[in-house]
Amino acid sequence: MKRIKVNASNKYEVVIGSGLLDTAGEEISKLIKPCKLCILTDDTVAGYYLEKLKCSLTASGYSVSEYIIPHGEESKNISTYAGFLNYLASNGFTRTDALAALGGGVVGDLCGFTAATYLRGVKYVQIPTTILAMVDSSVGGKTAVDLEAGKNLCGAFYQPTLVLCDCDTSKTLPSNIFADGMAEVIKYGVIRDSKLFEHLYENKLNFDFEYVIETCVDIKRDIVENDEFDNGIRQLLNFGHTVGHGIEKLSNFGISHGSAVAIGMMIITKAAAENNICSAECITKLNTILNAFSLPTSTEYTASQLAKTAESDKKRRAGNITLVIPKSIGQADLMTIPTTDYEKFIAAGV
Ligand SMILES: NC(=O)c1ccc[n+]([C@@H]2O[C@H](COP(=O)([O-])OP(=O)(O)OC[C@H]3O[C@@H](n4cnc5c(N)ncnc54)[C@H](O)[C@@H]3O)[C@@H](O)[C@H]2O)c1
Ligand SMILES: [Zn+2]
Repeated sequence: MKRIKVNASNKYEVVIGSGLLDTAGEEISKLIKPCKLCILTDDTVAGYYLEKLKCSLTASGYSVSEYIIPHGEESKNISTYAGFLNYLASNGFTRTDALAALGGGVVGDLCGFTAATYLRGVKYVQIPTTILAMVDSSVGGKTAVDLEAGKNLCGAFYQPTLVLCDCDTSKTLPSNIFADGMAEVIKYGVIRDSKLFEHLYENKLNFDFEYVIETCVDIKRDIVENDEFDNGIRQLLNFGHTVGHGIEKLSNFGISHGSAVAIGMMIITKAAAENNICSAECITKLNTILNAFSLPTSTEYTASQLAKTAESDKKRRAGNITLVIPKSIGQADLMTIPTTDYEKFIAAGV
């Protein structure tokens, strides 16, 4: 078991290990006194893990209830959010009560935003069950719901009280959700950690799960501690994402986030090599590793189509766009260019 301390505006620990659902009650009770605790989860995750978590929490003295939403991004909206708030209010949850998010990033983001706003803030615990949620969404305090105009447009920065990553939960992940999360893991390797990248490169699907999750969480911790509110180096986490968001939009979200990010990382790396910023070896290595995890590496969309989608990207600031460019495996830089130059830059990689 590993414990990683995150020193954000609110300090908390990320605990990573096996069997943590069974000891969740003990862990949480070190930080939150027995109270009413509502578990937010989705219908798929509930079937696998809800009873186990409830047992552990009940044994530690919590009065436990659950709010179960349909699985999938469609649930991360204002009406589910309002439904959850109304449930808490009509069941008499007070400021000393707490919430727990059991599931992937959808449940985590929705629970976090509800916790940030219900009674102007109640405590919440993240219990991520997808790789993406373990290495990315559960750490760092970004919470949100989607609006019709776009994803994550309504949210808050609000750190959890504790994050419990039970590695055993990954065993029930469908292969496509597993691969999606691995795209983010590979991203961490490219932007920050050549050792992590090499470990995945050498071991492919037989990688050491706990080591990989710990390493990614530690990178995210470091980045969040240095730029909690996303005005600087936190943007490194967007490697592959500007192009990736374009691919998601153009495909009407038919191409998953992880697949789109994989293609985005490939396009930016090729463009970087074309501009002599990184070596051709980076392209080959990235290509090999993405293939090993069944992630795509190319797209039918043109640079011009992709550039049009960037015009409405929320990461765009004052006519400029900040790209994350790999210099070598394990090292990346931010490069801000006028939005008008974006098409030309990515054309070298499409
Ligand atoms: N807050 C942040 O910093 C941040 C960062 C990245 C992504 N996100 C958000 O995260 C969301 C995506 O998260 P996600 O990929 O985890 O999606 P998700 O929460 O929709 O989970 C994917 C699917 O896997 C199922 N599932 C979850 N855990 C399972 C398990 N252990 N076994 C079997 N099935 C399981 C879920 O029911 C769901 O159908 C997006 O809404 C995105 O905007 C947030
Ligand atoms: Zn992502």
